[in-house]
Amino acid sequence: MAKEMKRILITGAVGQIGSELTMEMRKRYGAENVIATGRKTKPSKELEESGPFHFINVNDTESVEEIIKKYNIDSIVHMAAILSAVGEKNPQLCWDVNMNGTINILELGLKYDMARVIVPSSIAVFGKGIPLDNTPQETVLKPTTMYGVTKVCGELICDYYVQKFGLDVRGLRYPGIISHMTLPGGGTTDYAVEIYYEAVDKGKYTCFVREDTRLPMMYMPDAIEGTIQLAEADFSKLIHHSDFNHAAMSFSAGELAESIKKVMPDFEVSYEPDYRQDIADSWPNSIDDTPAREEWGWKPQWNLDAMTEDMLKNLKIRKEKGTLYPKED
Ligand code: SER
Repeated sequence: MAKEMKRILITGAVGQIGSELTMEMRKRYGAENVIATGRKTKPSKELEESGPFHFINVNDTESVEEIIKKYNIDSIVHMAAILSAVGEKNPQLCWDVNMNGTINILELGLKYDMARVIVPSSIAVFGKGIPLDNTPQETVLKPTTMYGVTKVCGELICDYYVQKFGLDVRGLRYPGIISHMTLPGGGTTDYAVEIYYEAVDKGKYTCFVREDTRLPMMYMPDAIEGTIQLAEADFSKLIHHSDFNHAAMSFSAGELAESIKKVMPDFEVSYEPDYRQDIADSWPNSIDDTPAREEWGWKPQWNLDAMTEDMLKNLKIRKEKGTLYPKED
């Protein structure tokens, strides 16, 4: 049996997924039991006021350990990472944060006999030589980005800690995640979020990948639900641990624009691919997540058109309030 998660530390809590995961975990586990942390970006008011928040640096073990001791932490959700596009601009930083940060967290997991350590992975683990459609769980992993390299190594090192030391580490390969709360930063799939913001803001968008670029994607509520489901899954039923393919939908940039046009017929989109096109081209069109479905009952709830309606509805409300984009200060 897995040990219960009671006092949870979230790294990268100011990030796109981390911020919403923190709020949901605070609802489910008690606000005072979910300690949000970030590196330097100021947290939103909601994040800061809803429970404990601290600045730490995952590359500085002492700063993490201080929080573990202060709050009697028994589980870590390690969301802090450098994403694919920033990783290609600064590969050494990407390696340092993603690899050394992860090893630090795993070592602290062992030292404090943690109930659970969650370390996310990504569709970026895939690269050369894969079947592009319905890419299976088990296939060659030869990524061409530094981000992908760190995610493959991350999965392997996490599984090593499971096998060698019996640490309960789990993780899933997120597709591109779309949300209307916190903007993503430095990823290749960011166009699928930006397009909604620009549609609402300006009625037009210039997309940085080609119209026919097809990638696996997921709406944030599914990503949050899946993450918590995996964290709570019965350990004895898990065959995989740190590398679950996690799927919901798959669409091209052109299909995404069409979905928006169904709600906003005047929306205009043009395509000006940049360096991120190569990254997108190295990833699958869609992935097969049978092991996630079989081992812990994963089932997505959202499809493209339902997501589009919800995104546009929420962003339009924000635009009316003058809070479409987060304020810089
Ligand atoms: N969304 C991520 C990126 O684009 C993929 O995991 O970098």
